[in-house]
Amino acid sequence: MKNLKGILIFTASVSLVSFVYFLSIYQNHPDGHERETFLSEVGEFFGTLGVWALVIIYGRTLLKLAIGKGGLAQRLVPDKYDVSTFPPFKALLELLNRTHIYVGIAAIAVIALHIAMLGLHAEILFFPTVLALVVWQGMFGFFLTWRFSPQELKRASYFVHAQFLTGIMIGIFSLFGHLVIDD
Ligand code: HEM
Repeated sequence: MKNLKGILIFTASVSLVSFVYFLSIYQNHPDGHERETFLSEVGEFFGTLGVWALVIIYGRTLLKLAIGKGGLAQRLVPDKYDVSTFPPFKALLELLNRTHIYVGIAAIAVIALHIAMLGLHAEILFFPTVLALVVWQGMFGFFLTWRFSPQELKRASYFVHAQFLTGIMIGIFSLFGHLVIDD
């Protein structure tokens, strides 16, 4: 519960700061009537794929939170049933666990292609920040799985990589960034 409260406060603070920054740059931003080209259409498609990859990644986190020990689902049924062993949940979670690395690499690749085809729009700070956060997630995900990483680095990487806060920032910054240009 304490964790959830922290996450909500973090989300509210990041949203507030982003909203203030959004208001400060929105008026000065030129109209975003970009010409639709084949490249920009493909770029938009990669953006959609990126969103889906992130939905799958964070869906796994939510599923873990829901069916894990003391999770939400466990509170809805009598204690004698262990929800995490319920076949459909277990099978889905195992699939998501086994494929996380590939979905993670795919997320980074399609987001990079999306940016390469549509431009970084570096003047809108939301976008370079999102790119940095995605690369940051990937870098520590790599250190987590690389067999030459020392134990210390693995432990630090788990702490940095396996949490919600980066995802919350990626979500909020991309949303506001797109609101600036999609008028
Ligand atoms: C945008 C890309 C990525 C995001 C947003 C992301 C997000 C996450 C999150 C939220 C967790 C916590 C797991 C949970 O409890 O649900 C996690 C765990 C993990 N990630 Fe990633 N990840 C990404 C890319 C990668 C990549 C590229 C790799 C490996 C090369 C990787 C390797 C791992 C490992 C080893 C774990 C811990 C073990 C596990 O829970 O499966 N991740 N990741």
